[in-house]
Amino acid sequence: MASNIVSVILAAGEGVRMKSGKPKVLHEIFGRPMLDYLLETVNSAGIKKMCVVVGHRLEEVMKFLAKKQMQFKGAKIKTVLQKQPLGSADALLQAKKQIGRLDTDVLVLYADTPLISQKTIQGLIKQHEKSRAGCTLLSAVLKDPTGYGRIVRSHEGKIVKIVEELDATIYEKAIKEINVGGYLFKTKDLFSVLEQIKPSNVKNEYYLTDAIGLLVKRGKGVESFITEDTKEILGVNTRFDLACAFNNLRLKNIEKWQDLGVTIFSPEHTFIADNVEIGQDSIILPFTIIEENVVIGKNCRVGPFTHLRPGTVLEDGAEIGNFAEIVRSRIGRRTKVKHQSYLGDVTVGQEVNIGAGSIVANFDGKKKQPSQIKEGAFIGSGTVLVAPIRIGKKAVTGAGCVVTKNRNVPDGQTVVGVPAKILEKEKRQSAKK
Ligand code: UD1
Ligand code: MG
Repeated sequence: MASNIVSVILAAGEGVRMKSGKPKVLHEIFGRPMLDYLLETVNSAGIKKMCVVVGHRLEEVMKFLAKKQMQFKGAKIKTVLQKQPLGSADALLQAKKQIGRLDTDVLVLYADTPLISQKTIQGLIKQHEKSRAGCTLLSAVLKDPTGYGRIVRSHEGKIVKIVEELDATIYEKAIKEINVGGYLFKTKDLFSVLEQIKPSNVKNEYYLTDAIGLLVKRGKGVESFITEDTKEILGVNTRFDLACAFNNLRLKNIEKWQDLGVTIFSPEHTFIADNVEIGQDSIILPFTIIEENVVIGKNCRVGPFTHLRPGTVLEDGAEIGNFAEIVRSRIGRRTKVKHQSYLGDVTVGQEVNIGAGSIVANFDGKKKQPSQIKEGAFIGSGTVLVAPIRIGKKAVTGAGCVVTKNRNVPDGQTVVGVPAKILEKEKRQSAKK
């Protein structure tokens, strides 16, 4: 049961292969640190006790974790310091005190394997409950296993040990079953072998993978849960791996939305992050970027070359076109923003037309200011709306006008010019009425 599991995420490594001034685990995929993906997945799998081992550039990682803790309700993230990056076994040993009780199970994950899914973690837990082995580990069979630790099995198919690529013989290198870096240990069994591990390998590190051979030797039993989704198990050690992880997530999301009835003509040129909603029969055209926390209704048309940033909501039937960027904004039903526009912090009503090249200037140099464009308004091409501003129902702005801040346009009226003024003709007409 997930409630009896403590998870330990190893995030203290130097990540030298990234060649970066920033901790590896804070490198982002779709604007979210790798570590964030794993924490969310562990939390959603029902594991509420999390322990993150930090070391390399720990201040930055701890700052991120403190922020994350505030978002989690009911889950507790503890941090543990690994003073020197002596290896994954040493990192896990630092968490011994935090794990505390020996009658629990420990789920160990690597922070540089960010895309493991909730389903896979739940599969691992189920397998472990069934086998009651000293350890159940996550493995996968890859066409190209280069770079990963290999799972060595006996003739009978029993796991014997894990060998790292640098220490492997040519025969072991030919093994296609790899160590993903996800283990569910019986806590007592884990700590009975962890301190026995020696740094007797090419890298001179204390390898957690050596715990497997030691457990087998002690007759504790090691089982595996073999995941078939080889995209989610990618370990990120280099910038190339980071790009592969980004691509894996992108394609997974695209396939998901296609299965749910969204048309995406060119998957290779479309970018959709996690935590997005898209309604049925919407069409996403090429070169569109949809970031996290975007909601798209039914029958919308988005793209080509559209950028939807966090906090964007498109109501049913909205159409957003070429070179439109939208952030923290709500776009009403059947509203059109078809060409070269920027809309930030604005609530747009239904059936509004935003003309080509129109923008909302939402930043006054200090703060982002909110605006409203009410239903049926017609924003002429090249209009600049300086926030905060309210454009009334069925109001019209003339092409190229600049509506300065707080100079709200009343319902049904037309403004023109720079700075925009109400059309004299309209003023007279409304006076007559
Ligand atoms: C590791 C596995 C390998 C597996 C691969 C999957 C070991 C010895 N090898 O190799 O079998 O196939 O992951 O991606 O575990 N860490 C610390 N402190 C340290 C060293 C590492 O916290 O002193 C953390 C890192 O931050 C990282 C994780 O442990 O999150 C794994 O370390 P890494 O150096 O990336 O191991 P790999 O070479 O990828
Ligand atoms: Mg790694």
